[in-house]
Amino acid sequence: MRERLATIAVQNLCTPAPFAMSDRALLPGGVIECAWDGARFDRRTGAALQAPAFDLLTRYDVRVAHGGVWVRKP
Ligand code: FES
Repeated sequence: MRERLATIAVQNLCTPAPFAMSDRALLPGGVIECAWDGARFDRRTGAALQAPAFDLLTRYDVRVAHGGVWVRKP
């Protein structure tokens, strides 16, 4: 099986408060919006796009290989 870089992942917890952002759907343009206070982040870079968030999300490299999904710690 050929190994390839699939994509990146970002931390699930919002940066202003530990609220799970996976409770909200992905917005157009790769934007993640927190369902609690409405902070927005760029899914690709983790950058904060809208207050109350100012700190970026931690990014993780993801690989699909050997029948599994592998997430590398930064
Ligand atoms: S917990 Fe996400 S914006 Fe407040």
